[in-house]
Formats: sequence, structure tokens, C-alpha cells
Amino acid sequence: MRIILFTGKGGVGKTTTASATALRLADRGMKTLLLSTDIAHSLADALAVPLTAEPTEVAPGLWAVQIDTQGRFEAAWRDVQRFLIELLSRSGVDPITADELTVLPGVDEVLALLAVRELAVAGDWDALVVDCAPTAETLRLLALPEALTWYLAKVFPAQRRIARGMRPIASMLGRGDVVPPDNIFDALLRLNDELAGVRQLLGDSSITSVRLVLTPESVVAAEARRTFTALSLYGYTVDLVIANRVFPAGDDEWRQGWARAQQLQLVAIRESFAGLPVRELPYRAGEPVGFDALREVGEALYGPLPGSDPAEATAHRDLMRIDPVDGDFVLRMSLPLATRSAVDAARAGDDLVITVGGHRRVLTLPSMLRRCTVVGGEFDGGELRVRFRPDPALWHAETRGKP
Ligand SMILES: Nc1ncnc2c1ncn2[C@@H]1O[C@H](COP(=O)(O)OP(=O)(O)OP(=O)(O)O)[C@@H](O)[C@H]1O
Ligand SMILES: [Mg+2]
Repeated sequence: MRIILFTGKGGVGKTTTASATALRLADRGMKTLLLSTDIAHSLADALAVPLTAEPTEVAPGLWAVQIDTQGRFEAAWRDVQRFLIELLSRSGVDPITADELTVLPGVDEVLALLAVRELAVAGDWDALVVDCAPTAETLRLLALPEALTWYLAKVFPAQRRIARGMRPIASMLGRGDVVPPDNIFDALLRLNDELAGVRQLLGDSSITSVRLVLTPESVVAAEARRTFTALSLYGYTVDLVIANRVFPAGDDEWRQGWARAQQLQLVAIRESFAGLPVRELPYRAGEPVGFDALREVGEALYGPLPGSDPAEATAHRDLMRIDPVDGDFVLRMSLPLATRSAVDAARAGDDLVITVGGHRRVLTLPSMLRRCTVVGGEFDGGELRVRFRPDPALWHAETRGKP
């Protein structure tokens, strides 16, 4: 089975390209499920067919579903959410995790992800195509399983084994009066397991890859680069960049102006995503809505039928990842062609500047690592490892300004 995720800034064409890809997969004979973690339910608009909370076959081999997060999960999850939010709204929670956990108010998307896994294992699909919510949310959502797993692993199990009563945990969290009831505890552990399952599925590069959709504009491309770095850092494989809404050259000055500006952006995009294929989609005369139009988009992306296999991971990059190690975080970056003497890494504000043989690569650090200091680094076996240690002083500096 293959899972392909589509993400990118708002309005760039995620739903359109995801739908076109799913339709192409189905047309090539793969049993394909198309779904969206975006609760805005735009799949039905793109396909121009009504959808329900049950997978429905909308074209031969193509099934689509509108995830219903409301009806999907028991009340227990809502209790867990409420409990955690209350917990986090008080001071004294482990600073690193508190911040990561505040994403829980966006729990609908987390539930949608759990549903993705559930649907993935329940049906005998050849492919799952997931239309994700815009960049920031998707990122936090993808990072969440790891953050929560780490948090739960760190805070809970030892205490639970030591004492059935929850007092020790509460005092560790700094509040003697916040005691998770047993049912919440069980639900949390279950949530933890399920999230670990999601993480495993989406982080497995032999199953899942991410496609970045952008339009050739500098702001959009800059955000796509940040997304790419963050996804790579968290261990997700990005295998394709889709540049959508490319103006065809025209006769009039206005169109020529746009075409020129976009061509410059496209050159920059190809450079900054070096190693990743970039496919262009022309700006069409109208909205590509419905199967006929989506088939044309699929043809522009993957060639005339049968064309290239849309499920094929067009590039394999497993460059960076972050692992929690003994309370620290270790950022690992594979630099297969580098030699020890040529590698250098230095922290500069919110960035990590990595120099390899005169090439500099600036990584914008994820918020979790921004609140750490670098306590060590080493390079061997073609891998750079930088060790980050949570620094309470940095955490306070960063959170004071927050609402
Ligand atoms: N190549 C194209 N040419 C013309 N119109 C397009 C093209 N690609 C997408 N559109 C249209 O642009 C609009 C936005 O596209 P789409 O809904 O796919 O973006 P999205 O990234 O999913 O947006 P959102 O972030 O709101 O979910 C839609 O009306 C769609 O039909
Ligand atoms: Mg959309």
C-alpha cells in the first residue's frame, strides 16, 4: 500500500492535485481511497459529487470519504483533551512539551489522522491519497505524534508502575490538585499507542511520501522551503514538488510580465529543492472541477495515460530527523558525501547553519529545538549529529511574549 500526502499553503491547489492524483491512480487500476484531513470538506467540491462519512465509490476504482471527526470518536477523547488543556493552562508543566501539547485544541485534525490510519488498515486499498490542511497545521499535526509520545513516555509510565494513585504524577507536573482519573489515564495511553501507530505509518518512507504544492511566487515558495525542512527534520519523505498555476506565455504585456516573473521563481524553486523533481501545472482557463477536468490535470502531472506511475516515489530523501535521547534531542542529518574535516555546524539565532565543503545550509529550527542549547556535535559514518538540551531560560524568554 502507498500513502501520498499533499500539503502546501492555503489555496495553492492541494485538493485539486490530490484529487487528480487519486483519479489517475484509479484509472491505472489501483483501488484508491481519497480523503481529506481538512475539515472544510472541499473534496466534494473538487470532484463535484456528494460525499459521506463512509467511503463511497465515486468513479471506477476511486473511493472518497469525508472524515467525520465529530461522530467518530467516543466522549473519552474529548475528556482527555479537556483534561490536558486544563493541565497545560497551569504553570509547572514540562516547558518543552507544554508548548507542543497546546496543539491539542486542533484535535479535529489529530482525530482525522487517526482516521487515516484506521481507514488505511481497514480496507484493502492499493493507495491512500490524503489532502491535508494548509502547511502550518499539517506540520504541527505531523509533529504531534512524536511530541505526545515523548511526553507520555517521559511523564507517565514510571509513575504509574510505582503507584496506582496519580499523586506522584500530579506533583511532578507541579500541581498537587491536578490528578488524572484512571479512565483518562487509560484513554491517554490508548491515544499514545494510536498516535505512535500513525507516526509509524506516515514516517515509513516505503509507504508514505509527501508532495509539496506551491505556486511560483516568492512568499509561497519560501513557506514551502520551510515546510520541506521541517518535514525532513521530522523524518517524513518529500518526493515531489508541484508548481501549480503557471502562466503560459502570452502576447499581451500583462501576461508576459507574469510569465517572466514566474519563470524566475521557477528557476529559484528548482535550485532550492535541488534533488527533488519539480512538476509544473499550467494555469487553466477555468477551475478544474469534476472528473473530466481532473483527468486533464492528472495528464499534465503524470503524462498521457498510462503515463508514469503516480504512486512511484520519484525521489527518496531521508536527510534529517530528530530523536529524543535521555531528555535531550539529537538531530541527525545524513551527509553521505561529506568528509569530517569539511563539516561544520553552528547555531545562529533560530537557525542551524551547516557548512559542508563550503556549501552552507541554513535550517530553520523547529520551535522545540529553538528552546534548547547545543551541547555537542559529531560527524562520522556520513552522519552529522547535533545534540540539543532543553534550556528553561530560553523557554521562558520565548513564551513570555505569547498570548
Ligand atoms: N491549475 C489551475 N488552474 C486554474 N484553477 C485552479 C488550478 N488549480 C487549482 N485551481 C482552482 O483554485 C482554487 C483553489 O484550489 P484548491 O482548492 O485545490 O486549493 P487548496 O490548496 O486545496 O486550497 P485550501 O487551502 O483552501 O484547501 C480552486 O477553485 C481550484 O479549482
Ligand atoms: Mg483544499
